[in-house]
Amino acid sequence: MAQEQIKSVQGTEDVLPGRWGHWRALYATARRLFERYGYGEIRTPIFEDTRLFVKGTGETTEIVEKQMYSIPRAGTTTTPGAEVAVEGITLRPEGTPPVIRSYLEHNLHKQRSFQKLYYIGPMFRRERPQRGRLRQFHQLGVEAIGSDSPLLDAETIILAADILREVGLSGSKTFINSMGCAECRPAMRRRLHAALAQRLGELGEDDRERLQRNVFRVLDSKDERSQAIVADLPPITADLCPACAAHYDQVKAALATAGLEFEEDGHLVRGLDYYTRTVYEIKHESLGARDTLCGGGRYDDLVKLLGGPPMPCVGFAMGAEATILAMEGELGAAPESSMRPGVYVVCFAEEARRACFELVQELRRAGMSADMDFEGRSPKAQMRAANRLGAPICLLMGPDELNANKVTIKAMAAKKQWSVDRSELVRELEAQSLGLRGEGT
Ligand code: HAM
Repeated sequence: MAQEQIKSVQGTEDVLPGRWGHWRALYATARRLFERYGYGEIRTPIFEDTRLFVKGTGETTEIVEKQMYSIPRAGTTTTPGAEVAVEGITLRPEGTPPVIRSYLEHNLHKQRSFQKLYYIGPMFRRERPQRGRLRQFHQLGVEAIGSDSPLLDAETIILAADILREVGLSGSKTFINSMGCAECRPAMRRRLHAALAQRLGELGEDDRERLQRNVFRVLDSKDERSQAIVADLPPITADLCPACAAHYDQVKAALATAGLEFEEDGHLVRGLDYYTRTVYEIKHESLGARDTLCGGGRYDDLVKLLGGPPMPCVGFAMGAEATILAMEGELGAAPESSMRPGVYVVCFAEEARRACFELVQELRRAGMSADMDFEGRSPKAQMRAANRLGAPICLLMGPDELNANKVTIKAMAAKKQWSVDRSELVRELEAQSLGLRGEGT
């Protein structure tokens, strides 16, 4: 009886060899720009103490309420569907609280209080899988810690936009807003609550409950009935205190100076609790309902909340899968990556196989890309494979070569063949300058 074939878990994705073109371009571009903007790489563990996210990401966020993959500590229990067991570990749903945890744990602020950090890696959220939304996905993110300069808010937005531009995207749009600070947030919340409470009956069911728990989440609702009501509300920036209003004006002025186009969206809020002042999202026209490539903003209170000194911060995370989808939409499929060997060694007799293996290793150590047959195919089939792979040079090794300590070189395009001493091979191949160092693209 055939064995049952086990499939991948829902919401996870395999990236097969042929699909790496856009991934590599995105990762290489992001790293290059992160470093050009002065960000140093940080890598934190894939799982953390659950309390970090409950506290940091926020207890009333969708992420903490519904989407975390947590393993409770032995001996603690949760009722299914009820609140998260806070004692235990959780697969990180986002990178911001871990970076701040690490910054504090290693006293990075004592070396130098202002730090610019970046990270690239997988995140985990139990979301309903759909186009561009996965349960394991990847983020490319930055966190600038220790400055409240509005120029820094602008710099992070420009950095994200630069990455998208450099990977070739032109169809993305930047939206910005300000959510105020601890000073102005209460008035903002009160006014919003009062306005929405007047139309309670018209709100979607979930949003009636959200109104009580976290009124800002109603602004982010996916329910069309609620969206229509939100559209009528005044922008939340109407309630900013003078300091927050001035900060917001300076962010906008810096973006304008840099020539970055943006739109103000007075109802833009983010699904995480820590934001203060500037929030922003970059969306792409081709992605439909889940169109956000990148989200971020300022979070001036998180470091203190996680036990550190007051330390203003700003950052963003770009979703790799969403960005790749946008790249596929605008630029087409990535070019097939080809692992083209520069040299293919063809084995003409079983007794020459080990010599072929040695040859391939020697060429690789000399910096050339070389390969051979591992399937015991006939010399004719090996030549066909070399042709199919597009190797410009074949080396032929049979009993004659083995005995004479020679190698036969065959230049495929010129259809020329000649012999050289084994000891002269590398020098001879280098003289051919046929791009034998091709590492594949
Ligand atoms: P976020 O908006 O939750 O922000 O996520 C940022 C981006 O990650 C989203 O715009 C989206 O492209 C991608 N993303 C999120 N969830 C999924 C998913 N389930 N599947 C695929 N892609 C997804 C944050 O995570 C904040 N930590 C950003 C930040 C950094 N704010 C300040 N610093």
